[in-house]
Amino acid sequence: MESSTARGNWSGRVGFVLAAAGSAIGLGNIWMFPYRAGQYGGAAFVLVYLGAVVLVGLPLLNSEILLGRATRRNPVGALRLLSPGTGWPVVGWLGVIAGFVILSYYGVVAGWALDYTWMAVSGQLFSSTSGSMSGAFEKLVANGPRQVLWQGLFMLATIFIVSRGVEQGIERTGKILMPLLFGIVLVLLGYSLTSEGVERGLDFFMRPRFSELGWEGALAALGQAFFSLSLGMGAMITYGSYLGEDESLPGSVAMIAVADTALAILAGLVIFPLVFTFNLEPSAGPGLVFITLPQAFAMMPAPAFLASLFFLLLIFAALTSAVSLLEVAVAFLVDEFKLPRVTASVGAGAIIFCLGLPSALSEGFLDHVDALASNWLLPVGGLCTALFVGWSLDRAAARKFYSAGGSGRGFELFHFCIKYLAPVAVGVILLQNTWPAISGLFAG
Ligand code: PHE
Repeated sequence: MESSTARGNWSGRVGFVLAAAGSAIGLGNIWMFPYRAGQYGGAAFVLVYLGAVVLVGLPLLNSEILLGRATRRNPVGALRLLSPGTGWPVVGWLGVIAGFVILSYYGVVAGWALDYTWMAVSGQLFSSTSGSMSGAFEKLVANGPRQVLWQGLFMLATIFIVSRGVEQGIERTGKILMPLLFGIVLVLLGYSLTSEGVERGLDFFMRPRFSELGWEGALAALGQAFFSLSLGMGAMITYGSYLGEDESLPGSVAMIAVADTALAILAGLVIFPLVFTFNLEPSAGPGLVFITLPQAFAMMPAPAFLASLFFLLLIFAALTSAVSLLEVAVAFLVDEFKLPRVTASVGAGAIIFCLGLPSALSEGFLDHVDALASNWLLPVGGLCTALFVGWSLDRAAARKFYSAGGSGRGFELFHFCIKYLAPVAVGVILLQNTWPAISGLFAG
């Protein structure tokens, strides 16, 4: 008991839910989700994504949190405690490594949002007469030192928050930034829903076009649910380890998933009407938020204000996710090596900053690291977590962990999903990544 208070705790359910929602809501929601929905048939993508969240995301989220809560340990320690003398702790190690890898490039993309906010506030973003936003973006990604500067600032903020501890740092940040984030989204929504392109935008986003989805889009939706809910690398195990046994799990888990999904959908509702109002390309891909959207802002009244608001939103979302990525490494170092939290935060943060340098300095590198993490590390981690909870952990223990603090209602369904559905679904993502030919086979 003594060591658990020394590692830190959430002040209660609200603090935990906001922190975990902060981890889930990130670049995945605001940057990735809308551009993928644009590429893969609008609501067709959204429907598969929603199905994946319910059938695979919820049970996995539940599993990770209950593993953390029951053991009060970092991912490596949690699996070692539950399964001593086996190979399972390797899964925890994989998670810690994934945290280093993901945060290394996540910080660079968050740095772009910082740069855009600065350019908008200082009037540079909309000053050039050429008005070419793709030019502005290309200039940024070609400028290594400029990206390193912003990435460094972002990492400093992340390190600062984590070093202050679970309640004073992470929980506090979530409690401040999450309401702000929803507030900003609502203001932007006001603009988009009164814009001229609202009907066409909503039609594009809300009407399912299954012909554009295909096998590839369906798998992207599954992967999206995974990344967006912060699954597969122990972030939720770590956050669960600061949760008391007296809080009922399924309700909190549902709230986290609903908040995460709501923000993704709201981001789509903000972006597509604006894109259609100015006859821009809705299926522009990854450049949607950094190139297409600023083009729309440029044609609206008060473009600098709107752009700063939007990129501030992106920064807030990214910061609370980055904090959870760093916390996985810090919890590991604090639990396993008894390092003081501040030392662990600064040390791990500095290493991650250095690991991110290639992503900032060499164009194209970022995409490879992103692919490694989203296509491999997270799905493998998620698959192993599902197999562990569904097959290795005995059913009575799983039921006990699931039910602590609540009625245990829904356990049978949960166990079925985690034992059969989740491994199959995640296995399919992996298979598709290993063997791209499959996608060709089903594409027609
Ligand atoms: N869920 C975060 C997002 O949507 C990313 C993330 C993945 C954070 C894995 C932590 C762990 O951007």
